[in-house]
Amino acid sequence: MIDNNVTEEILKKTDIVDIISRYIPVTKKGRNHIALCPFHDDKNPSLMISRDKQIFKCFVCGVGGNAFTFVERIEKISFIDAVRKVASYVGYSDVRLNKSSLDKKVDEVKEKMYLAHQELTAYYQYNLSTKLGAHAKEYLESRHLDRDLQRKYSLGYAPEDGFQTIEYLIKKGFSYKTLEDAGIALHVENGYMDRNQGRLIFPILDENNRPIAYSARRINEDESQPKYINSVDSTIFHKSDVLYNYARALDASIKEKRVYVCEGFNDVYAFARVGLDSAVALMGTAFSEKHVALLRALKAEIVLCFDPDEAGKKAIIRASDILDKAHLDYVMKAFPKQERRDLDEYLNDEGKEKFLVYINDVCDKFTFLLNMYEGGDALKTNKDKQRFINVFLPKLVTLDEGLEKDDIILKLARITGFEVEAIKRAIISYSKQSEKKEVLVDTAPTFQRKEQIKRYSRLKRAERSMLFYMLNEMKAVEFFEKNISFFIDDVYRNIANFIIAYAKEHENVSSEDIISLLSLSELTNKDELVKTICDLDLDETLRKIPYSEEAMKEYLNVIQEEKEKLSERDFLSRSLQGKATEEKARIIKDYTAARDRHK
Ligand code: UTP
Ligand code: MN
Repeated sequence: MIDNNVTEEILKKTDIVDIISRYIPVTKKGRNHIALCPFHDDKNPSLMISRDKQIFKCFVCGVGGNAFTFVERIEKISFIDAVRKVASYVGYSDVRLNKSSLDKKVDEVKEKMYLAHQELTAYYQYNLSTKLGAHAKEYLESRHLDRDLQRKYSLGYAPEDGFQTIEYLIKKGFSYKTLEDAGIALHVENGYMDRNQGRLIFPILDENNRPIAYSARRINEDESQPKYINSVDSTIFHKSDVLYNYARALDASIKEKRVYVCEGFNDVYAFARVGLDSAVALMGTAFSEKHVALLRALKAEIVLCFDPDEAGKKAIIRASDILDKAHLDYVMKAFPKQERRDLDEYLNDEGKEKFLVYINDVCDKFTFLLNMYEGGDALKTNKDKQRFINVFLPKLVTLDEGLEKDDIILKLARITGFEVEAIKRAIISYSKQSEKKEVLVDTAPTFQRKEQIKRYSRLKRAERSMLFYMLNEMKAVEFFEKNISFFIDDVYRNIANFIIAYAKEHENVSSEDIISLLSLSELTNKDELVKTICDLDLDETLRKIPYSEEAMKEYLNVIQEEKEKLSERDFLSRSLQGKATEEKARIIKDYTAARDRHK
């Protein structure tokens, strides 16, 4: 990681107008400079450069940032290389910009995170074997996960006292920052605590078998808590990029020639219990392109093996659509019509022999869908039925007239109650429509799109105004910290956190510097944050109302009012979850009565 002081020193010597002028013609217009935006097909100048603020923004394509961002984008290089380039333009040299020392620092940060996970995993494992973990162990055994499996998957228990867990790691020499950045420690009012406290621990390993994150299952009866808590993303862990048990499956799939793609940990363990190591799990994330790449690398037959429930059905269809697009072959685990049990339950009930036969019962997507719905009453509305037919149309138009096609049409007619002839007509009109679609592509060039006039809600307007002041006035930052310290909008909240961190070490706030800080961070949404800062800070409407404490108070009131409304809704929707209609009505009635009493 580049030292933030270096980027600040370079920016002090840099004028953004000079830098951008090196690449494209820039003209002065009023207080600002403008140019044709080089990042989209621009016909009228939509790139605005502010010399005061030392940032730029395109009002059409939305790109924005400081001088480094511009060079990063136009040269298509990394942010750090852009910093080096700008440094050379303004004649700044510093050993801290050396490549080797930079790379080493990044590696050191990661290495610490790996080590922290290694220590913590051992700590969790140890605790599972103690009195504290007795309850967790009992739970595991009740689910037929014996000691061997517990050890094989490094399962553990996170003690209830989450503060002590963090202190244990601090004593081992890790900093709070490392633990927070690694997604292990959660900063709360009275210190740092383990995010996973009191839960059963499933470590998530990377391809080199190093623990990089955790999934922590609730083992008490408190249904208001989520069943699983997963580590947040960090430098070493990107949730949507991993498949649970992938490293092992990579070896095993060579021998087993198959990979079973499942939903959760318990499915993977069910396979392990019968001696198969080639199952991987999505762990609650949506199937993604990254998963496709991981599976492709296995060079094994892919079996989609999701739970036989509504959620599983939706997920398996989604996954199959993505695999279809990626031209990767797969089959699906077939389920008998009335089957509702997860794989582990099936194994518990029926035993190993039957399980091995069961998992070999696979079929293609169309058979899967037809089986799933045949005789069932899942397709109630006309819309559902239409949608169901639509899934088959792309396949049906490729089939020649014959038994296979007739059979599918007949089954579809039975499932939906539509007439055979109606379905045949749908096939014909689909085949015509897909030809038409190719002609109807929107060919209007990008630059003709006018910037949308943005309409913000009352809450969003208040948050925007406050954040705008925070980018320009130290007093606003202090006010925010003292009185509110929380934006409801995720992006605004992230930005506010960065401003606060920056303000701690500086006398003035500067968008330009905060953009560097953000760009050097590991946040996955940093581009969006940078854009939003430029968007806010160059917003003429916001600039018109000068900073005052009165204005801040007004926004504060609005935010608090809206927050109350929101938490009310949150609270209600949570307490209504899974309740019967009459019960729901009663809860709403009680709740409104109570609220009115307190007014
Ligand atoms: P399941 O609800 O099927 O969990 O979700 P499971 O593994 O079968 O767990 P048991 O049988 O209830 O103990 C499938 C997967 O989705 C992820 C977990 O990775 C889980 O294994 N998940 C589920 C979450 O991330 N969060 C949740 O709240 C629930
Ligand atoms: Mn389950």
